[in-house]
Amino acid sequence: MALETSILAISPHKHTTPLLALLVPQGAFPSSLGRLDEAVGGALHRFFATGDFTGKRGEAAMVYVEGPADRVLLVGLGTAKELSTTAIREASAIAARRASGVGVPSAALHVAAEVFESVNPRALAQAVAEGLPFGAWNFSDLKRPAKDKRADLRRVDILAPAKTKTMEAGHRIGSAIGAGQWFTRDLQMLPGNMCTPAYLAKVAKKLGTQYRIKVTVLDGAAIKKEGLTALLAVAQGSAEEPRFIVMEYRGARAKTKPVVLVGKGVTFDTGGISIKPATSMEEMKFDMSGAAAVLGAFDVLGRIKPNVNVIGLIPTAENMPSGTALKPGDVITSHLGKTIEIVNTDAEGRLILCDALSYARRFTPACVLDLATLTGAVVIALGSTAIGLMGNDEPLIDAVRAAGERSGERAWPLPLWDDYRELIKSQIADVKNSGGRAAGTITAGWFLREFVEDFAWAHLDIAGTAYSDHDTPSRVKGPTGSGVRLVSDFVLSRKP
Ligand code: BES
Ligand code: MN
Ligand code: ZN
Repeated sequence: MALETSILAISPHKHTTPLLALLVPQGAFPSSLGRLDEAVGGALHRFFATGDFTGKRGEAAMVYVEGPADRVLLVGLGTAKELSTTAIREASAIAARRASGVGVPSAALHVAAEVFESVNPRALAQAVAEGLPFGAWNFSDLKRPAKDKRADLRRVDILAPAKTKTMEAGHRIGSAIGAGQWFTRDLQMLPGNMCTPAYLAKVAKKLGTQYRIKVTVLDGAAIKKEGLTALLAVAQGSAEEPRFIVMEYRGARAKTKPVVLVGKGVTFDTGGISIKPATSMEEMKFDMSGAAAVLGAFDVLGRIKPNVNVIGLIPTAENMPSGTALKPGDVITSHLGKTIEIVNTDAEGRLILCDALSYARRFTPACVLDLATLTGAVVIALGSTAIGLMGNDEPLIDAVRAAGERSGERAWPLPLWDDYRELIKSQIADVKNSGGRAAGTITAGWFLREFVEDFAWAHLDIAGTAYSDHDTPSRVKGPTGSGVRLVSDFVLSRKP
């Protein structure tokens, strides 16, 4: 169940709520909170006076008070230098996660007035509206409801001095992005037996009806007819038929070149005949995270309806070992016509993506971004902190990086130098699908580049950021919706 948020023009000392979260900068007790402190018997400033709470970034303390609020949750934003939309988004997420934890059905959040001196109200409202649902997200659809279940956090009121147009505008964008990211995480979370290629196609169709976006789905026969042979090759070992999903959001004039978003939709990756070890293999249900991010981005587009043109392409298949599966050594053809030597059937993502990149040409894209949980190597290189970024166009790479900084989903570039191309040369075919362990993320990027013709392209390897195996104060373990905020920011900040 998603989280609803809205801006209320009311002072925190006048607002009755089971939980009031206060976002405060590091330093002395903010004077703007004086009235509230009085209303709760001076409990707040004592927290500062004793040094028990200093407002360090990520610091959180629950204070049980008598007053209009039953509890006050202090959340630190860090020093003036650290004060940013990223810190505000994160603190809002921490607040929502803590509020969900105590089981209150509704809560309020107030950002200390002092913060408005260094962050503009529009960006602030957007960050709060993104952070709250991010922290509140959880998934219990597949569990029997517990008898002693606590209430779900359903609503958070954002208490502001005034309900200004700029704050409302930021809140509207942030809520749409927050909801889109929530939607992506739900999809990511679904197991492989439920989230099949046909299911992803159904989800895309539903978005199409909901927002009047044109959605075309190619089934196995249509994929064959279209010549998406590398996608077919990956799917041939599975009982699940592949799908190729095409989504067309048209918000600008017809001749405005579209941004094309491509998402890897491997609904489960066993590795195929080059099978993966059993330990943690269940995590490979997340191998459709790129597809889920693209679907989430279209949910955002449907909610905001910006005047841009965006195409979504989702090749989706299941990678299984069987008597009909692709084998190491096999040579296949691709949609572009280049032949591929399969040296490792676990390097399947690049195979389904290369056909989508080749298919993208027909839309004469302004640029193409692909999102994929493509390599384990990117987890080694960048951990869960940054998306691996590669491409064939420096200005585009810079724009993606900037969108990542603004949205709090950082992406960091890796070099696609010609030297690396050597590693995927094949003795028997035009290219081979793996260059081995060395520079694994870059050779995967180079493989994709072999299929990029005539457009600016950036590749986002989200294998390290798409899901997490541990809780943090701002989110539960599991899917993160990686890419939704970055891509939304990228698309929304394009000049019409
Ligand atoms: N889906 C995996 C990549 C992955 C690994 C995602 C870990 C998330 C966490 C991808 O299909 C894969 O198996 N890549 C191989 C490529 C190799 C065989 C060249 C890898 O990274 O090991
Ligand atoms: Mn694989
Ligand atoms: Zn994979």
